[in-house]
Amino acid sequence: MHLPNDVRVVEVGPRDGLQNEKDPLSVEQRVQLVNALARAGVSSVEVGSFVSPKWVPAMAASDEVFRKIERRPGTVYSALVPNERGLEGALESNVSEIAVFISASESFSKRNINCSIEESFERLKPVFDKAFKASIPVRGYLSCVAGCPYEGAISPAVVAELSRRLVETGCYEVSLGDTIGVATPPVVADVLDQVFSVVKVSKVAVHFHDTYGYALANVFQALQHGVSVVDSAIAGLGGCPYARGASGNLCTEDLVHFLQDLGINTGLDLDGLMATGNWVSEQLGRRSLAKVSAARARE
Ligand code: HMG
Ligand code: MG
Repeated sequence: MHLPNDVRVVEVGPRDGLQNEKDPLSVEQRVQLVNALARAGVSSVEVGSFVSPKWVPAMAASDEVFRKIERRPGTVYSALVPNERGLEGALESNVSEIAVFISASESFSKRNINCSIEESFERLKPVFDKAFKASIPVRGYLSCVAGCPYEGAISPAVVAELSRRLVETGCYEVSLGDTIGVATPPVVADVLDQVFSVVKVSKVAVHFHDTYGYALANVFQALQHGVSVVDSAIAGLGGCPYARGASGNLCTEDLVHFLQDLGINTGLDLDGLMATGNWVSEQLGRRSLAKVSAARARE
């Protein structure tokens, strides 16, 4: 079995993790979280999103968060952007890169960003143009790659074609999102086989939610397919506002512990991550979902 030597972990907790919170963290708490993650060695962190605060209230004031964070050299501080207006906010906030998103499901696209898949490509055209002019790298998310809360199963051929278009349009990487956490290892294998027929392995990341507890099994499948970039959220935070029933993201601490056990380098400090996961869970008034933190606490 061949596994990568190194994995880059993209920390999405401050954005994907917190965007669904009914009682959002304050700007100061969000700043502390981003700073603690960077101190624990996180090299890519999604700090927030420049979306409509009416649609996603918990991500309001992402510009203030960007203004107040410490910027560590070598750390990528990115923001999710849905349209040109969001890009302008992101550029004013001096982001290192942006992430755009497209859905593999028409119904999810309408509920999430109020337009069809084709319209979302149109909407993103000026975003790509302006980001490239500003020399800002663009990461692309494709959501609902293994299933949609409204449509059910999604065809891997559709996922492959949309991934190809995102790369062709200029995304340096496409993150395949199992937004509602319904993927199983065989489904991941099918999706990746199709995607890799049209997109290079080095351009693909995976993004799992742990609804049924399969996220790490799915990561293992992806690693065996050569994927070496994995998204996760500290303390397993998350849930998507437009995907009812979607549970938290794959937990960063558990991912890093798993990768360490496989002998794969991440460059991350697990103790620092566990402390950060416990801290942010306390701020939210709940326990961290990290299994490794619970196990270590019992030792
Ligand atoms: P809309 O209502 O169709 O568009 O929203 P609109 O142009 O009519 O704008 C509505 C209002 O929003 C207007 O304000 C605009 O000015 C304002 P009003 O006139 O009503 O006062 N507006 C904005 N405000 C701030 N920043 C902006 C912006 N744009 C317009 N950038 C829109 C369209 C895209 C704006 C809206 O649908 C939206 O913000 N959606 C965001 C949804 C979102 O963030 N979803 C979660 C992220 S995706 C995800 O989680 C999946 C992922 O994690 C992968 C995975 O898990 O698998 C990526
Ligand atoms: Mg997600």
